Amino acid sequence: MNKIEIKHNNEVFDLPIVKGTENETGINIQQLRSKTNLITLDPGFKNTGSCKSSITFLDGENGILRYRGYSIESLAKNASFLEVAYLLIFGDLPLKNELDKLTNDIQDNAIIDEDLKKILDSFPRSAHPMGILSSLTSALIAFNPEKKISLSNSYKNKSEIFLYNTIVKLLAKIPILVSWVHRRRKGLSLDYGDFRNGYVENITRMMFQLPNQTYVQNNVVVNAMNKLLILHADHEQNCSTSTVRIVGSSEASLFASVSAGISALWGRLHGGANQAVIEMLEAIKNDNGDIKKYMIKAKDKSDPFRLMGFGHRVYKNFDPRAKIIKIAAHEVLKDLGINDPILEIAKSLEKEALDDEYFTSRKLYPNVDFYSGIIYKALNIPKEMFTVMFALGRVPGWIAHWREMRLNNDPIGRPRQIYIGEEFREYKKISER
Ligand code: ACO
Repeated sequence: MNKIEIKHNNEVFDLPIVKGTENETGINIQQLRSKTNLITLDPGFKNTGSCKSSITFLDGENGILRYRGYSIESLAKNASFLEVAYLLIFGDLPLKNELDKLTNDIQDNAIIDEDLKKILDSFPRSAHPMGILSSLTSALIAFNPEKKISLSNSYKNKSEIFLYNTIVKLLAKIPILVSWVHRRRKGLSLDYGDFRNGYVENITRMMFQLPNQTYVQNNVVVNAMNKLLILHADHEQNCSTSTVRIVGSSEASLFASVSAGISALWGRLHGGANQAVIEMLEAIKNDNGDIKKYMIKAKDKSDPFRLMGFGHRVYKNFDPRAKIIKIAAHEVLKDLGINDPILEIAKSLEKEALDDEYFTSRKLYPNVDFYSGIIYKALNIPKEMFTVMFALGRVPGWIAHWREMRLNNDPIGRPRQIYIGEEFREYKKISER
């Protein structure tokens, strides 16, 4: 069967069935409205496919996550973050000369206008780093203007070279901005580093180097950061990626689209969960480790408290990234000789929830962010920066989706609605109301 029949007002209409490479199946409703005058209603897009994509495959029932066909487990174990970025964006793992070229091109663009430092300096110290990063990413547009887009020079006509140059700029500048946001919070000087020493190595150096000290690279830190960035690099049509695609669909620039993606990621139901998890675990610790009390709160429908780091829109058995991160959290704490009671609280809370009918019946399991904050904390990254680290990892995914949408000439994103407001009303002057 490659079509589905729907009956409406005693008439039967055919709609085509679409099938993906892993046999996921959907109904193509593009003709539904013109045939039947009906639209579909799906708040939160819980069951709506917004595009065809060949970047990431995710099977939530079986806990499978693959980037361009490669399992997340093998990439996290073997690959470098920049290789994974190349894979996501350009479709295949890079050859040595391709990776070298990308690295050199990134280094050539590893410069930010000094005036941007003034913008950074004008933010209050208390400003949340995600707000600063989103603003600075947007501000990059002013310092990297594109040629004016006219009808004959629309994005649809822009070449692969134009896309490549824009992509490389972003891959070079975002890590610098991230390190600047971090360093400014600590009152440290801002600098650029050298990506030819390794993309992740340069990120850790830019973030952690102290003034007047020779920086000694710590492989445990680099490996942990590499793994975390890879695990966060893409997750198909999540809230922030859908935001990037929908903003980009209006032909807004890559920088503008990614800035919007950063804002979408900020919320605690999405990327902001990593900060919220640590705050929750610290609150439990300061409350004499009373896990049971927080379990009761999480299950109480009149209490807005949720177990942060639990549950996922798509994963309904386990989040494969959480499994990898849990092991990595143990390793990092052990390697760095840190004994963090928060890890024990996290493990007990997880055990308690996995034995609880409320959580099992709703298929709520730890997600990627349940353990990631424990690693960031061990790496001495302040909790307000956790979501920024997530954003740094997600940049290649956002770029890959923006590029795919652009090359596919996808139409502007514009959902419909069912209007439930007032019927027509006559305007009355204020004196007559
Ligand atoms: N704690 C307690 N109850 C929960 C939780 C939770 N963390 N998550 C879901 N539930 C309950 C809901 O109350 C609801 O119960 P009901 O059916 O009795 O009304 C049911 O489980 C389904 O929850 P929904 O909110 O409808 O599920 P949805 O798919 O819309 O939300 C989400 C998924 C946002 C991730 C949700 O599980 C949540 O809020 N988790 C906590 C925040 C979090 O960890 N976010 C990070 C997600 S991963 C990422 O973005 C990188």
